[in-house]
Amino acid sequence: MTVQEAYNYSVYFLGANGVDEEEFKAKCLVCHLAKIANRDYHSHLGDLVSQKKLADGLWQLKSGTPLQYVLGEWDFLDSTFAVGPGVLIPRPETEELAQLAIEQVKNAGSTPVVWDLCAGSGCIGISIANACPGASVYCVEKSTDAFAYLQKNAMLVANVRPVLADISGDLTALPKPQVLVSNPPYIPAAVLPTLQPEVLKEPRMALDGGTDGLDFYRLIAEKIVPTLDSGTQLLLEIGDEQGRAVQNLFATCENVQVRQDIYGKDRILIATVA
Ligand SMILES: C[S@@+](CC[C@H](N)C(=O)[O-])C[C@H]1O[C@@H](n2cnc3c(N)ncnc32)[C@H](O)[C@@H]1O
Repeated sequence: MTVQEAYNYSVYFLGANGVDEEEFKAKCLVCHLAKIANRDYHSHLGDLVSQKKLADGLWQLKSGTPLQYVLGEWDFLDSTFAVGPGVLIPRPETEELAQLAIEQVKNAGSTPVVWDLCAGSGCIGISIANACPGASVYCVEKSTDAFAYLQKNAMLVANVRPVLADISGDLTALPKPQVLVSNPPYIPAAVLPTLQPEVLKEPRMALDGGTDGLDFYRLIAEKIVPTLDSGTQLLLEIGDEQGRAVQNLFATCENVQVRQDIYGKDRILIATVA
């Protein structure tokens, strides 16, 4: 089956089965199977793709499996990360957090230590490590399923250390960071059942921030911050309605600011340990 035939059939099949964004998903799936970038689609219309693999991918999409899990990888900043069931799919809004963290790490000396807490696929910490070769980045993740992806993604990046640990435990064995970045679970538990079905295919442990969604910010502010050196930079992704509450939790820090994302929504908390 040619790339063009595969694309036309996929758009038809996904549309007929009520899958949203059928043209985008068809393009991504077919180009993935043809091992070409989406932008090169038009110059590879006659290439061949496996009909069996196409049918398998389409069936998974029809069953509600997220596109990124079907492809087994997803782009984040300048890299492609292995993803699949058990790990959160890297989000575009998190790229803004990673970019800001990269700027901070570049200003934190020649060999800074960075912690990426709740690291998931490692998209934040590994992006920092790639952009800042002098940094040592500790990516801490509790889920063994997510940790397998973290290890795979970190395999070729010399300055990343994947750490399988619960951030509510003792982290004192790690060297103290100059920059701490985290995109922790922050969805209030009661909101979880209202999320889109595709999001619910992602691990609950990656989403559930407790009753008010703030459990992990409380943990970082009350238990982790007191163990850090004065001057440590904190960068945390937050939910769009959590700016004020998270700012209050970090009131003992200095320079506490909430930054908005490209949509003008509160998205990042920045603070300096006092
Ligand atoms: C919102 S996801 C973020 C993943 C990744 N940093 C990203 O931005 O795509 C939160 C991650 O925290 C992990 N996690 C949940 N509780 C944890 C804990 N107590 N200690 C360490 N990691 C935890 C989850 O397994 C999940 O991978």
